[in-house]
Amino acid sequence: MTVANLPSGPKTAQFLRLLKLVFRPIKYVEDYMKAYGDTFTLFNKSGNNLIYFSHPKALEQVFTADSSYFEAGRGNRILRFLLGDNSLIILDGDRHSSQRQLLAPPFHGDRMRAYGKIIREITEQVMNEWQVDKPFNIRSSMQEISLHVILRVVFGLDEGQRLEELQQLISSLMEFINSPLMSSSLFFRFLQKDFGRWSLWSRVTRKIAKVDELIYALIAERRTENNQNRQDILSLMMAARYDDGQPMSDVELRDELMTLLVAGHETTASALTWSFYWLDYLPEVREKLLSELNHLGNNWQPTDAAKLPYLTAVCQETLRIYPIAMTSFPRTVKKPIEIMGYNLPTGTTIIPSIYIAHHREETYPQPKQFKPERFLERQFSPYEYLPFGGGNRRCIGLAFAMYEMKIVLATITSQIQLSLVDKRPLKPARRGLTVATPAGMKMVAKPILKEVNMPVVV
Ligand code: HEM
Repeated sequence: MTVANLPSGPKTAQFLRLLKLVFRPIKYVEDYMKAYGDTFTLFNKSGNNLIYFSHPKALEQVFTADSSYFEAGRGNRILRFLLGDNSLIILDGDRHSSQRQLLAPPFHGDRMRAYGKIIREITEQVMNEWQVDKPFNIRSSMQEISLHVILRVVFGLDEGQRLEELQQLISSLMEFINSPLMSSSLFFRFLQKDFGRWSLWSRVTRKIAKVDELIYALIAERRTENNQNRQDILSLMMAARYDDGQPMSDVELRDELMTLLVAGHETTASALTWSFYWLDYLPEVREKLLSELNHLGNNWQPTDAAKLPYLTAVCQETLRIYPIAMTSFPRTVKKPIEIMGYNLPTGTTIIPSIYIAHHREETYPQPKQFKPERFLERQFSPYEYLPFGGGNRRCIGLAFAMYEMKIVLATITSQIQLSLVDKRPLKPARRGLTVATPAGMKMVAKPILKEVNMPVVV
């Protein structure tokens, strides 16, 4: 039998560790990184220790190992209250891989590119709400865009009452879930109890039930409709069949819709908000981007914008410096495995650290500086650059999120200059399970083209 040998690590009590992880997520990981480097263990009394890996060699071993070595859905069970038991994020094994095969195709290739026009239209609708020099919350605007996009593309909703209703209910649910107290309850189980009508847990359960009601009504309506031409992801899921010929049940459809909603709009909105922060914080980056966009002309196509090298590099660097998900999903070892010379016993949990991998001096010289040029100068391997995780759990929305980011950035930046109201440097803050710009970041808008008509506040 191989003897387990684990990397060294701090002996801090689990409760104190969690407090720091929730309230100071960047300091949490940077302190460990300074003290232990790439690889360390967080020891737990139960014996189920957590090993942080971020060396490219270790990440390659984790992401290319046969999926039978790990369970990843298990570590995501804290999200069951929201996503349900059938969510791709929570499944493991054969059910996970068959569900992935079913869900992934619409987020790639021509199917995905067909959504470019919708993304641009929605961005312009939201831009039209801004008034010259009137401060607005940039995150709310980005969220409005990304949620609207998901509802059109995934749910196939046309403009109208149902879209507005769902948009409102989901925004209110997500704001609630991402509030500091509710974010904490994702990490501290004792808070996940219904202590009465006004308790956090009771309120969130009621909010989810309202969203569910609308989702089930939509599924029922689609089942009676006979429109073969629909290209939205809900229709594709309803038409798809498992290997045994069975369609997805209503509950399965609901769980996957909720998963795509939650995973697909919050993350992209956070990334876009950071991009606008960096473009204003570093005027030379904005100038360079603007000059690249100017070459596109006025009637550019989404597919042309998506090919622009500097725009792509700005998006990549945004996701490198402050990755929205600081880690990939935790992988729990199902049978002993050796990673970078460490023998990991069953029950150990591997945490692939995206943040540390993106801040390794050897890979990214001056890692704290925002420099899109690094992506033009060299190519990074999927084990050095991994904002969307890796292996059999790699984000299914990767191509779609990058496409959406580029179209939104190109649409806004080519017409409007956005400036931060408060120019002080920002550090990421916790937002549910992710990290994002601190709540309340405000910007003001000014048109840069004569043709852009923006209302002026009087
Ligand atoms: C900038 C935007 C996004 C970021 C940074 C991001 C990041 C991630 C990360 C880090 C993972 C975990 C991968 C792993 O454990 O190795 C993940 C998984 C996932 N993401 Fe994304 N994501 C984004 C956008 C999206 C979009 C647009 C969608 C869909 C509409 C989506 C759907 C999913 C799903 C369903 C999974 C679970 C995959 C599985 O368990 O097999 N994400 N994402």
